[in-house]
Amino acid sequence: MNLIRIPKSWQIPEREATSESAFFNRRHFLKTLIGAGLGASILPILGCESEESKQALVETLQKSKIQKIHTNPAFSQVDRPMTTELLAGQYNNYYEFGSGKSIWKAAQALPTEPWKLEVTGLVKNPQIYDLDDLQKKFPLEERIYRFRCVEAWSMALPWIGFPMRSLITDVEPTSQAKFVRFTSYYDSKITVGPLWSLGARLPWPYTEGLRIEEMANELAFFALGIYGHLLPKQHGAPIRMVLPWKYGFKGAKSIVKIEFVDRQPATFWNTIDAREYDFEANVNPTKPHPRWSQATEKFIGQGSGFSWERRETLPYNGYGEYVANLY
Ligand code: MTE
Repeated sequence: MNLIRIPKSWQIPEREATSESAFFNRRHFLKTLIGAGLGASILPILGCESEESKQALVETLQKSKIQKIHTNPAFSQVDRPMTTELLAGQYNNYYEFGSGKSIWKAAQALPTEPWKLEVTGLVKNPQIYDLDDLQKKFPLEERIYRFRCVEAWSMALPWIGFPMRSLITDVEPTSQAKFVRFTSYYDSKITVGPLWSLGARLPWPYTEGLRIEEMANELAFFALGIYGHLLPKQHGAPIRMVLPWKYGFKGAKSIVKIEFVDRQPATFWNTIDAREYDFEANVNPTKPHPRWSQATEKFIGQGSGFSWERRETLPYNGYGEYVANLY
């Protein structure tokens, strides 16, 4: 098996943000999975973007301000500083647009207008919402949540959105509904760009799933915005899932469909490898990923890869009081 050659310029931030083996192995794993080498992108070192590139990045982040959103007092602070907007907006996972972290430019190809979100399956009131409907129907609030990726890096992010349970109330699931399946936008002509063309063999579209009780939990959130603005495309515009007690891959981006179903749905990562990406995927420092430890994480707060601190991972990412009773 050949190892992927990682160009030096993007080895530094990745290695600093993620335990090197975690980062390297996930990509190596995908490489072996799809049976061929990945196109390597040469990424700028975080914090060392050219002025021109930085300006372009800022433009993707700050297009539409959301006016006067109240911060939910229960989620107004976390035990760590907030991740800076610039870092969060240039350090993303969005595999439809590439396998590296710096996909923010490629993600601008995502068409978000008009957007329809279909809610269907075992519900009394199926719906097709557009973005106006969502904003009018569900009062928006801000919540600052810890965010933990399965790759062992973490952030603290200020999301704007509404609790998933409000949508449950609106569509009224029937008593047969036990699980919920979420599907991300997918169009092979737009997503799966040149850097990731081999990814065409992965089980697109990106899908995720929850038990209905998990979706009804107070913490489960749909985000339409972040840092006081509507979601930039790299963060999963115009609507994505945020589940702070689970690994980040459970939070599907750019959702187009929600289906209430009677059995556990197939999901993207779980289909690729159920042992590595279990359906539940709760943050758990005592349960290592098969190829790396989950005991600690690199917290991406501010500065560059050299200043990111390593912290102990918290069970349920620190949200046990809300969710431990579900398991
Ligand atoms: N959703 C889609 N559609 N495609 C993806 O590749 N990556 C997941 C999740 N949602 C992903 C996705 C992973 S692995 C993580 S860690 C988070 O999005 C990253 O969210 P962020 O880039 O906004 O920080």
